[in-house]
Amino acid sequence: MNNFDFQNPTRLIFGKGTIAKLGTEIPSDKRIMVCFGGGSAKKNGVYEQVKNALSNHFNIEFWGIEPNPDYDTVMKAVTLARDNKINYLVAVGGGSVIDGTKFIAHAIPYTGEDAWELAIHPEKITKTTPLATVLTLPATGSEMNYRGVLSRRRTQEKVSFITPKSSPQFSILDPEVTYTLPKKQLSNGIVDAFMHIMEQYMTTTGNGILMDRWAEGVLLSLIEIGPKVLENQKDYDTMANFMLCASMALNDFVSMGVPQDWATHRIGYELTVLYGLDHAETLAVVYPSLLRVLKKQKTEKLAQYAERVWNITTGSKEEKADKAIEKTEEFFRQMGLRTRMSEYGIPAEAVDIIYNRLKAHNIAYGENKNVTAEVAREIYTGCL
Ligand code: NZQ
Ligand code: ZN
Repeated sequence: MNNFDFQNPTRLIFGKGTIAKLGTEIPSDKRIMVCFGGGSAKKNGVYEQVKNALSNHFNIEFWGIEPNPDYDTVMKAVTLARDNKINYLVAVGGGSVIDGTKFIAHAIPYTGEDAWELAIHPEKITKTTPLATVLTLPATGSEMNYRGVLSRRRTQEKVSFITPKSSPQFSILDPEVTYTLPKKQLSNGIVDAFMHIMEQYMTTTGNGILMDRWAEGVLLSLIEIGPKVLENQKDYDTMANFMLCASMALNDFVSMGVPQDWATHRIGYELTVLYGLDHAETLAVVYPSLLRVLKKQKTEKLAQYAERVWNITTGSKEEKADKAIEKTEEFFRQMGLRTRMSEYGIPAEAVDIIYNRLKAHNIAYGENKNVTAEVAREIYTGCL
């Protein structure tokens, strides 16, 4: 087991009617800016609940943080916050609104010329503005982690900024707010959460007995509830379990002392930046091919995953690994996502376009740092 240093300071306030607690959890003298996405919160009553909860606080609103939050959008929020002397932020939305708000929190006190610096060098983040979230879309785990992902469309970049300063102080998770999610976002959320576990689990065997069992527990739960979520998203317990799975999938509870991969996430960003795929759509396309390309390196763990998660008990380790990869791709498709670039109309030339971009950054991803641009090209060729 590797050395590790674990802390997760985010408090979870979970259950029906909990948005009302927002007002009592934030000190009454705080000047709050509430950040929203494109309008779903107004349609489903979340906005009203948030406003009622904050009726005794000074608060202003910022609307328009888009999916894959854009640097230029969030910088408008930074100006608004500075003009109004804001000293507390509340993000109301999915991963995009939360990540965008995390960046706003860091950029408000930043005195340097160009705040994009903070996205690419998060170690420069020394001061931040406290923040809380009201989660409306289970998927990214951003509500209980210190990660953020920011895009800058004008330069075709998407980067993740990871800093302990990004942890929300608390997050409110009311499963009832998920009843209005479009089917596509449910599919995305299940696959994203599943993939967060895989990125922390699908490496080597033998060094994290407890971590493996926890990770497999979340995978099994997602496989069990995924079809139910798609069938009946108004079943409270189903959605509550989905919400909890997504938070637990990326809050460091399954990554203590174990190696991590993350190559699929990192090389998948290219498909969002260049071809506009949703985050989870990129993962469903890239991952089956990545597993096929890196099968030799991951055979032992794939065989363990095959046995414990998919109940594949016959055949050699290689055969079990092959079947587990098939099962994984089938699961993504069962959840309603496509797993080939051609199904999105992405042409074969994309492989070289992406290769050249990754080559320019001299990438080396994965638990063994061997997913270079050349390996990524092979992976992308495999998912045409
Ligand atoms: O903008 P509004 O109108 O609110 O609509 C949103 C948006 O269009 C809608 N939505 C959210 N809650 C809803 C709802 N519609 C109806 N009812 C509700 N209750 O859903 C759409 C998608 O929202 P978005 O926040 O973009 O989705 P998601 O949570 O999947 O976030 C994706 C972003 O998170 C990043 C991704 O790269 C992407 O930028 N990630 C962040 C991570 C992190 N911080 O740890 C890790 C992930 O791997 C991921 O990279
Ligand atoms: Zn993800």
